[in-house]
Amino acid sequence: MNIDIVRKEIPVTSRRAYFDNAGTGPPSINVLNAIHEYMSDWRDYGENWEEWLPMIIDSRRQFGKMIGAGVEEIASLPNVTSALIALASSIKLKPDSNIVISALNFPTNIYLWHLQRKLGRVRDVRLLRPDSTGIVPLDAWEKAIDDNTSIVSLDYVSWTNGCREKIREITKIAHEHNAFVIADSFHGLGVFPINAKQDDVDGLVCGVYKWLQGPHGAAYLYVHKDRLNELSPGYIGWHGVEDSVVRRVTKQQDLFGMPFDISDAVPASDATRFEGGSWGVVSIIGAKAALEYALKHDQQERYHRVLKVTDHLIDGLKRKDRKILTPLHSDRRSGIVVFEDLDPHATFDKLKSLNITVASRVKAIRVSPHYYNTEEEIDKLLAAL
Ligand SMILES: Cc1ncc(COP(=O)(O)O)c(C=O)c1O
Repeated sequence: MNIDIVRKEIPVTSRRAYFDNAGTGPPSINVLNAIHEYMSDWRDYGENWEEWLPMIIDSRRQFGKMIGAGVEEIASLPNVTSALIALASSIKLKPDSNIVISALNFPTNIYLWHLQRKLGRVRDVRLLRPDSTGIVPLDAWEKAIDDNTSIVSLDYVSWTNGCREKIREITKIAHEHNAFVIADSFHGLGVFPINAKQDDVDGLVCGVYKWLQGPHGAAYLYVHKDRLNELSPGYIGWHGVEDSVVRRVTKQQDLFGMPFDISDAVPASDATRFEGGSWGVVSIIGAKAALEYALKHDQQERYHRVLKVTDHLIDGLKRKDRKILTPLHSDRRSGIVVFEDLDPHATFDKLKSLNITVASRVKAIRVSPHYYNTEEEIDKLLAAL
């Protein structure tokens, strides 16, 4: 990876030291151009499904490539929350069962499961709290998951303290008890390589507007092909049936050349069964460009760069005696570093005035550099602190 070229392709780098990729990732020019082309197409032609539908299919394919999955295992949804809802409405629950989750999960991946308990769909939600080092230890998962566990849902990386979860180990425990494993890879994908098959997760959700540097309004849901047929969404729409327009494109049939069979509602045999109505085409076209851009890089190389800049940041923070709230064991590291700050708004404003972007959190500052950041930019941040 030639970092000078990469930085030219990411315009924000010439304007500010940008360290909020865990909030919103800045676009590359590839993404901006793809969205611009779509806008021109819309302006000039109005509706153009013949061009757009294949792009929607291709965006799913690109996402599949990112996680080592086939296009038939991927659904395109507007956000991570709706992807999680799709799973929650579809997974068959064991009678009187429990759901095991981590308090390090993003709130959506917690609220949704409390709701299942309130609706009387499960007996118990086991919310595992981190210990004083910011980690939910493996033995806590081991104790909580049992034969009555229907779902284990966890984030690859915690949005709140940057702790990387031991997905493979937890998945193994969950599968020993025949539980369905859902993993949210929003803070993992684009930072380090992820292979859904090797991690053996059953369902995976991810948006594109953070570390993948795509727009808001596009997210993906992966379901392992062996588990697809046991999941029946509690909703259906014209894009989720077997004979949908997008399935007609795949089969090279005329989009609107035949009437739709309205005598029944047959879910698609692939993951499009989780889709409902029309997509945010502009977002998906941006997402496709973002995925193609990310796929140009070696994912391990990206991770090495992320570790290099975050190591530099951590060393500098330690020298300044800043209290770091992120677990620092090498197998727990991600792109997120959080440190204590008793007046985070003042720090945020001061840094912003110096063209340095971080995130202000509860009595803390979250710094989330990416592969395109440099150690010189980290030095600038450290000097400002
Ligand atoms: C790990 C994680 N999952 C999900 C979300 C929410 O995603 P969405 O707004 O696409 O539902 C966030 C937002 O910050 C997040 O950090």
